[in-house]
Amino acid sequence: MQSLILVGMMGSGKSTIGRAIAEVAEVPFHDLDRVIARNLGHTVPWLFERLGEQTFRDHEANELRQLPNEACVIATGGGVVLREDNWTEMRRRGKVVWLRASLEVLAVRLERGRMRRPLLVHDDWLERVQAILDARTPLYSQADIIVDVSDEEPEVVARHVMEASAWPSL
Ligand code: S3P
Repeated sequence: MQSLILVGMMGSGKSTIGRAIAEVAEVPFHDLDRVIARNLGHTVPWLFERLGEQTFRDHEANELRQLPNEACVIATGGGVVLREDNWTEMRRRGKVVWLRASLEVLAVRLERGRMRRPLLVHDDWLERVQAILDARTPLYSQADIIVDVSDEEPEVVARHVMEASAWPSL
């Protein structure tokens, strides 16, 4: 069985929805940011600040490759799409799903969670979300499946994702 890999902007719900899907499908769930933090012994903001973004991205790529080779659900960090090698690795593992959220939805969600995101700890955070979304839209669009997310319950979005991707399949 292939894995299901969720990509999308910060605040699009990758972790919550990924966990819900894994529960329904009864497969392991891996949250890449958490894996990085656990294996390196530091939080993502700490790693970003102390090592710089590019070194963080090196660790992110490395930890993605080191995940167990098993059928599972993987929630990635929003920037995993920036490296072409990560796409090769994600496609090798299974189906890639973009959880697409509008700027309006992201703005509401990130207002609360943004201080945990090193890219958004600035006063002009909303402009930055817009700029990141614009820059990454062509990258996220390379996903195999696109599912729009808004304010539905995670279980509802999880069902949409499973229907749209026909995953898990035999
Ligand atoms: C990032 C997203 C974050 C985390 C890091 C960088 C990004 O993960 O990997 O702060 O570049 O979009 P989430 O998408 O889970 O917030």
